[in-house]
Amino acid sequence: MNRYSTPQIALHWLTALLVLTNIALPYGHDFFGQFLGGDGGVFTLHKSIGLTVLALTLLRLVVRARHGAPQLLPPEDRFQQVAAKAGHALLYLLLLAMPLTGLLFGKRPVNLFWLVEIAPLPLSDDTRALAKQFHLTAQYVLYALILGHAAIALWHHYVRRDGVLRGMLPAARH
Ligand code: HEM
Ligand code: HEM
Repeated sequence: MNRYSTPQIALHWLTALLVLTNIALPYGHDFFGQFLGGDGGVFTLHKSIGLTVLALTLLRLVVRARHGAPQLLPPEDRFQQVAAKAGHALLYLLLLAMPLTGLLFGKRPVNLFWLVEIAPLPLSDDTRALAKQFHLTAQYVLYALILGHAAIALWHHYVRRDGVLRGMLPAARH
Protein backbone atom coordinates (compact mmCIF):
# COMPACT_ATOMS: atom_id res chain seq x y z
CA MET A 1 0.00 0.00 0.00
CA ASN A 2 0.90 3.66 -0.26
CA ARG A 3 3.05 4.67 2.67
CA TYR A 4 6.08 6.70 3.70
CA SER A 5 9.43 4.92 3.57
CA THR A 6 10.65 3.25 6.77
CA PRO A 7 13.30 5.94 7.49
CA GLN A 8 10.64 8.63 7.07
CA ILE A 9 8.26 6.83 9.44
CA ALA A 10 11.01 6.33 12.03
CA LEU A 11 12.07 9.98 11.78
CA HIS A 12 8.46 11.20 12.06
CA TRP A 13 7.65 9.33 15.27
CA LEU A 14 11.04 9.92 16.88
CA THR A 15 10.69 13.65 16.17
CA ALA A 16 7.12 13.70 17.54
CA LEU A 17 8.31 12.05 20.77
CA LEU A 18 11.27 14.43 21.15
CA VAL A 19 9.20 17.56 20.43
CA LEU A 20 6.52 16.62 22.98
CA THR A 21 9.21 15.83 25.57
CA ASN A 22 10.88 19.15 24.85
CA ILE A 23 7.63 21.05 25.39
CA ALA A 24 7.01 19.18 28.66
CA LEU A 25 10.50 19.87 30.06
CA PRO A 26 10.33 23.66 30.67
CA TYR A 27 6.73 23.50 31.91
CA GLY A 28 7.43 20.55 34.20
CA HIS A 29 10.84 21.87 35.29
CA ASP A 30 10.07 21.39 38.99
CA PHE A 31 9.20 17.75 38.42
CA PHE A 32 12.00 16.91 35.94
CA GLY A 33 14.52 18.93 37.95
CA GLN A 34 14.34 16.26 40.68
CA PHE A 35 16.00 13.78 38.31
CA LEU A 36 18.23 16.18 36.37
CA GLY A 37 19.88 18.07 39.19
CA GLY A 38 17.65 21.15 39.08
CA ASP A 39 16.69 23.68 36.41
CA GLY A 40 20.20 23.77 34.94
CA GLY A 41 19.91 20.08 34.06
CA VAL A 42 16.37 20.51 32.72
CA PHE A 43 17.52 23.20 30.28
CA THR A 44 20.66 21.28 29.32
CA LEU A 45 18.37 18.45 28.26
CA HIS A 46 15.86 20.86 26.62
CA LYS A 47 18.61 22.42 24.50
CA SER A 48 20.19 19.07 23.66
CA ILE A 49 16.89 17.54 22.57
CA GLY A 50 16.05 20.71 20.64
CA LEU A 51 19.32 20.57 18.69
CA THR A 52 18.70 16.86 18.04
CA VAL A 53 15.33 17.81 16.55
CA LEU A 54 17.09 20.35 14.33
CA ALA A 55 19.55 17.70 13.07
CA LEU A 56 16.79 15.11 12.56
CA THR A 57 14.66 17.63 10.64
CA LEU A 58 17.53 18.50 8.29
CA LEU A 59 18.13 14.78 7.75
CA ARG A 60 14.42 14.27 7.21
CA LEU A 61 14.26 16.93 4.54
CA VAL A 62 17.15 15.25 2.70
CA VAL A 63 15.40 11.87 2.94
CA ARG A 64 12.16 13.45 1.73
CA ALA A 65 13.92 15.04 -1.24
CA ARG A 66 15.09 11.55 -2.23
CA HIS A 67 12.01 9.46 -1.41
CA GLY A 68 9.31 12.08 -1.96
CA ALA A 69 5.96 11.68 -0.18
CA PRO A 70 3.30 9.08 -0.99
CA GLN A 71 -0.03 10.14 -2.47
CA LEU A 72 -2.30 9.49 0.54
CA LEU A 73 -5.09 11.97 -0.23
CA PRO A 74 -7.48 11.69 -3.19
CA PRO A 75 -5.62 13.29 -6.14
CA GLU A 76 -8.77 15.06 -7.35
CA ASP A 77 -9.29 16.89 -4.03
CA ARG A 78 -7.18 19.97 -4.67
CA PHE A 79 -8.23 21.70 -1.43
CA GLN A 80 -7.08 18.81 0.78
CA GLN A 81 -3.83 18.52 -1.17
CA VAL A 82 -2.99 22.20 -0.78
CA ALA A 83 -4.11 22.38 2.88
CA ALA A 84 -2.02 19.30 3.81
CA LYS A 85 1.03 20.67 1.97
CA ALA A 86 0.72 24.04 3.70
CA GLY A 87 0.23 22.44 7.13
CA HIS A 88 3.23 20.16 6.71
CA ALA A 89 5.39 23.00 5.38
CA LEU A 90 4.53 25.09 8.45
CA LEU A 91 5.34 22.16 10.75
CA TYR A 92 8.73 21.78 9.07
CA LEU A 93 9.31 25.52 9.36
CA LEU A 94 8.72 25.43 13.12
CA LEU A 95 10.79 22.25 13.54
CA LEU A 96 13.66 24.37 12.20
CA ALA A 97 12.77 27.76 13.69
CA MET A 98 12.20 26.63 17.30
CA PRO A 99 15.67 25.10 17.78
CA LEU A 100 17.38 27.82 15.71
CA THR A 101 15.87 30.67 17.73
CA GLY A 102 16.66 28.76 20.95
CA LEU A 103 20.27 28.53 19.84
CA LEU A 104 20.35 32.22 18.91
CA PHE A 105 19.08 33.68 22.16
CA GLY A 106 21.20 31.75 24.68
CA LYS A 107 23.99 33.79 26.28
CA ARG A 108 25.66 30.84 27.92
CA PRO A 109 27.33 27.85 26.20
CA VAL A 110 25.10 24.89 25.37
CA ASN A 111 26.31 21.72 27.06
CA LEU A 112 25.15 19.17 24.48
CA PHE A 113 24.00 16.07 26.42
CA TRP A 114 26.61 16.93 29.07
CA LEU A 115 29.27 15.93 26.53
CA VAL A 116 30.32 18.81 24.31
CA GLU A 117 30.15 22.56 24.87
CA ILE A 118 28.88 24.77 22.06
CA ALA A 119 29.92 28.38 22.54
CA PRO A 120 27.18 31.04 22.42
CA LEU A 121 26.88 32.90 19.13
CA PRO A 122 28.33 36.42 19.09
CA LEU A 123 25.08 38.36 18.74
CA SER A 124 23.78 41.70 19.93
CA ASP A 125 21.34 41.84 22.83
CA ASP A 126 18.63 43.09 20.46
CA THR A 127 18.99 40.06 18.20
CA ARG A 128 18.90 37.76 21.23
CA ALA A 129 15.78 39.45 22.55
CA LEU A 130 14.07 39.06 19.17
CA ALA A 131 14.99 35.37 18.95
CA LYS A 132 13.69 34.81 22.48
CA GLN A 133 10.45 36.61 21.68
CA PHE A 134 10.01 34.35 18.66
CA HIS A 135 10.82 31.17 20.65
CA LEU A 136 8.32 32.01 23.38
CA THR A 137 5.54 33.14 21.02
CA ALA A 138 5.85 30.59 18.22
CA GLN A 139 5.34 27.76 20.72
CA TYR A 140 1.59 28.51 20.55
CA VAL A 141 1.57 28.27 16.77
CA LEU A 142 3.38 24.94 17.15
CA TYR A 143 0.75 23.67 19.64
CA ALA A 144 -2.10 24.65 17.32
CA LEU A 145 -0.40 22.94 14.38
CA ILE A 146 0.37 19.73 16.28
CA LEU A 147 -3.16 19.49 17.71
CA GLY A 148 -4.79 20.20 14.36
CA HIS A 149 -2.42 17.81 12.61
CA ALA A 150 -3.06 14.93 15.05
CA ALA A 151 -6.83 15.59 15.04
CA ILE A 152 -6.95 15.48 11.24
CA ALA A 153 -4.89 12.26 11.17
CA LEU A 154 -7.32 10.63 13.64
CA TRP A 155 -10.32 11.95 11.70
CA HIS A 156 -8.96 10.31 8.55
CA HIS A 157 -8.49 7.04 10.40
CA TYR A 158 -11.70 6.79 12.41
CA VAL A 159 -14.20 8.88 10.44
CA ARG A 160 -13.05 8.72 6.82
CA ARG A 161 -11.53 5.27 7.37
CA ASP A 162 -8.93 5.85 4.66
CA GLY A 163 -5.22 4.95 4.57
CA VAL A 164 -3.74 8.33 5.59
CA LEU A 165 -2.69 7.39 9.14
CA ARG A 166 -1.59 3.90 8.02
CA GLY A 167 0.68 5.65 5.53
CA MET A 168 2.70 6.94 8.52
CA LEU A 169 2.59 3.66 10.52
CA PRO A 170 4.98 0.72 10.17
CA ALA A 171 3.65 -1.98 7.82
CA ALA A 172 3.35 -4.58 10.60
CA ARG A 173 0.80 -2.48 12.44
CA HIS A 174 -2.25 -3.43 10.35
C1 HEM B 1 12.10 21.38 19.13
C2 HEM B 1 12.73 22.40 19.62
C3 HEM B 1 12.25 23.28 20.75
C4 HEM B 1 10.99 23.47 21.24
C5 HEM B 1 9.67 22.87 20.76
C6 HEM B 1 11.11 24.41 22.33
C7 HEM B 1 10.05 24.89 23.11
C8 HEM B 1 10.17 25.68 24.24
C9 HEM B 1 9.10 26.00 25.14
C10 HEM B 1 7.66 25.53 24.99
C11 HEM B 1 9.61 26.79 26.13
C12 HEM B 1 8.87 27.34 27.34
C13 HEM B 1 8.37 28.69 27.05
C14 HEM B 1 7.66 29.33 28.22
O1 HEM B 1 8.08 29.19 29.37
O2 HEM B 1 6.67 30.00 27.91
C15 HEM B 1 11.02 26.97 25.85
C16 HEM B 1 11.89 27.71 26.63
C17 HEM B 1 13.24 27.79 26.41
N1 HEM B 1 13.96 27.20 25.37
FE1 HEM B 1 13.19 26.03 23.93
N2 HEM B 1 12.44 24.77 22.50
C18 HEM B 1 13.16 24.07 21.54
C19 HEM B 1 14.53 24.14 21.36
C20 HEM B 1 15.41 24.91 22.10
C21 HEM B 1 16.84 25.00 21.88
C22 HEM B 1 17.62 24.25 20.80
C23 HEM B 1 17.33 25.85 22.82
C24 HEM B 1 18.75 26.32 23.06
C25 HEM B 1 19.81 25.87 22.46
C26 HEM B 1 16.22 26.30 23.64
C27 HEM B 1 16.32 27.16 24.72
C28 HEM B 1 15.28 27.52 25.54
C29 HEM B 1 15.44 28.32 26.75
C30 HEM B 1 16.76 28.88 27.30
C31 HEM B 1 14.15 28.50 27.27
C32 HEM B 1 13.78 29.30 28.54
C33 HEM B 1 13.39 30.67 28.16
C34 HEM B 1 13.01 31.53 29.34
O3 HEM B 1 11.85 31.43 29.75
O4 HEM B 1 13.87 32.25 29.81
N3 HEM B 1 15.06 25.71 23.17
N4 HEM B 1 11.34 26.27 24.68
C1 HEM C 1 5.10 16.74 17.53
C2 HEM C 1 4.25 16.08 16.82
C3 HEM C 1 4.26 15.95 15.31
C4 HEM C 1 4.98 16.61 14.35
C5 HEM C 1 6.00 17.72 14.55
C6 HEM C 1 4.59 16.05 13.05
C7 HEM C 1 5.09 16.47 11.82
C8 HEM C 1 4.73 15.96 10.59
C9 HEM C 1 5.21 16.41 9.30
C10 HEM C 1 6.22 17.54 9.09
C11 HEM C 1 4.63 15.66 8.33
C12 HEM C 1 4.86 15.77 6.81
C13 HEM C 1 5.69 14.61 6.34
C14 HEM C 1 6.14 14.76 4.90
O1 HEM C 1 5.31 14.75 3.99
O2 HEM C 1 7.36 14.89 4.68
C15 HEM C 1 3.76 14.72 9.00
C16 HEM C 1 2.98 13.78 8.37
C17 HEM C 1 2.06 12.97 9.00
N1 HEM C 1 1.82 12.92 10.38
FE1 HEM C 1 2.73 13.99 11.81
N2 HEM C 1 3.64 15.08 13.26
C18 HEM C 1 3.42 15.00 14.63
C19 HEM C 1 2.53 14.14 15.27
C20 HEM C 1 1.65 13.31 14.63
C21 HEM C 1 0.62 12.53 15.30
C22 HEM C 1 0.37 12.52 16.80
C23 HEM C 1 -0.04 11.85 14.29
C24 HEM C 1 -1.21 10.89 14.41
C25 HEM C 1 -2.16 10.97 15.30
C26 HEM C 1 0.59 12.18 13.04
C27 HEM C 1 0.24 11.67 11.81
C28 HEM C 1 0.80 12.01 10.60
C29 HEM C 1 0.37 11.44 9.31
C30 HEM C 1 -0.73 10.41 9.08
C31 HEM C 1 1.17 12.05 8.32
C32 HEM C 1 1.09 11.82 6.79
C33 HEM C 1 0.13 12.84 6.21
C34 HEM C 1 0.15 12.91 4.68
O3 HEM C 1 1.19 12.71 4.05
O4 HEM C 1 -0.92 13.25 4.12
N3 HEM C 1 1.61 13.08 13.27
N4 HEM C 1 3.83 14.93 10.38
